[in-house]
Amino acid sequence: MSTATESAVTGLKSTYDQDGWCELPYRFTDKAVTLLKEAVAAISRESRPEVVYEKDSDTVRGIHGCHAFDELCAALVRHPRLVAAAEELTGKPVYVYQFKVNLKQAREGAAWPWHQDYAFWSEEDGMPRPDAVNIAISLDDIHEDNGPLVVIPGSHRMGLLDLPEKDADGGSGWRQHVSADLAYTVSEQRAEDLAQERGRVLITGRAGTVHAFHPSIVHSSSNNVSSDRRALLLITYNTVDNAPPNPTRPEFLVARDSTPVVPADDDRLGTEPRSVA
Ligand code: SIN
Ligand code: MN
Repeated sequence: MSTATESAVTGLKSTYDQDGWCELPYRFTDKAVTLLKEAVAAISRESRPEVVYEKDSDTVRGIHGCHAFDELCAALVRHPRLVAAAEELTGKPVYVYQFKVNLKQAREGAAWPWHQDYAFWSEEDGMPRPDAVNIAISLDDIHEDNGPLVVIPGSHRMGLLDLPEKDADGGSGWRQHVSADLAYTVSEQRAEDLAQERGRVLITGRAGTVHAFHPSIVHSSSNNVSSDRRALLLITYNTVDNAPPNPTRPEFLVARDSTPVVPADDDRLGTEPRSVA
């Protein structure tokens, strides 16, 4: 475990275990958010496989694996507060499994249907258990009209839902894991029933806010019908003893290096406290 005890989020773990998501009690400063947005903009202009576009469009939908080639993103995944949160919420040392920014561009950013991330990691990568955590950092102000993440509290305790039969050839292509036409979804009806029982929460907040959510929580987000972009940066930390033995998807979707991430401060990535309801 990291020795960054001052960064611990003790107390949030019981909420996270119960609900499958929680809000962290700090936010990245405006300066840090500006720098991250500049990095995201520069990467989005590059022509490389990690940059994914909306269907039949030249609008960037997401960028992937940036911590492997961008120096600021590499610093971000080592941020002591993020590493401490991931260790606290999973209970073990962690490494970076996945890094992405979903840009949800104004008026053009398409939905993410209801799904569970662990369906992809289990079925496609062979991740043994859902012992990972997603840390989500808002890079724009997120409100109910620009396609916020919507989660169904407690749904992470129900196992994997609505898994399709495996294809004879072993699965879908990776593009169907990052597009609006997802390979593993939870049906609309199932999600509606679950939301009736358990409610649904819109993950909104000012740019710089940080949330955590569980690999098995049922979540979605709608088309961005507003004139405001909704960029969400997602880092998945996996526990070191839960690395898939033989992943085959591209490394920018499934990291091969499972050595524990070493926390390191970076003056550019400041945080400030925020109160959590
Ligand atoms: C979103 O960006 O709204 C969806 C993210 C995800 O499902 O991983
Ligand atoms: Mn997801």
